[in-house]
Amino acid sequence: MNKSQQDKWDYAAGFYDLLEGFGPERRWRPYKQKLYSKMNGKILFLAVGTGLDILSFPPDQDITGIDISPKMLEKAQPRVDAYAGNMTTQQMDVHELEFADDSFDQVFTACTFCSVPDPVKGLIELRRVLKPDGTLNMFEHTGSFTFPFNVMLNFMNPAVKSIGPEINRNTVANVKAAGFKIEKVSHVFLDIVKTIEAKAP
Ligand SMILES: C[S@@+](CC[C@H](N)C(=O)[O-])C[C@H]1O[C@@H](n2cnc3c(N)ncnc32)[C@H](O)[C@@H]1O
Repeated sequence: MNKSQQDKWDYAAGFYDLLEGFGPERRWRPYKQKLYSKMNGKILFLAVGTGLDILSFPPDQDITGIDISPKMLEKAQPRVDAYAGNMTTQQMDVHELEFADDSFDQVFTACTFCSVPDPVKGLIELRRVLKPDGTLNMFEHTGSFTFPFNVMLNFMNPAVKSIGPEINRNTVANVKAAGFKIEKVSHVFLDIVKTIEAKAP
């Protein structure tokens, strides 16, 4: 378990809803709802955070949620309890998943692979716990290939990275590098905020 990563997110848990719970989450909610409407079977959700995503989950699903931060999971618990389906959470680092191979039909991620320190390693772990033909469904922000946003994001990244996430990652390339087959990429805001659908071989 990466202790500095855990401490950083434990600290953020105190103000995360104030920062993200109103503008950003409300703006992304319709896109998240569309992605989560594909939920079916045994689902792993990375990362629960304060549970804002739970408000967009369809009912009656079987969901195991994980997060590296116990403080985030503590904040999320009332939303987990209120979910109209079967949902449990566990503290876990995506780099070292404690699940057996082929445990899940689907994996969903939201706004996480900007801050996972070794994204390809984390994605390889997600592929390991997915059943063959299982699907990876991501809502993530990434770098851009569009001028001037690519220049701006690359310029700002070192400063932003020192206090929070990386804002210029090529998550689609990372998903491919982890051995997934990309099925669909849909842009939500420019080519920066996107949904990625991929399949485990
Ligand atoms: C930006 S928040 C997103 C939370 C939530 N999905 C949302 O959209 O509101 C990123 C989350 O990823 C979690 N996280 C960061 N690194 C992680 C890791 N290595 N393993 C598991 N969770 C991690 C953090 O604790 C935090 O809750």
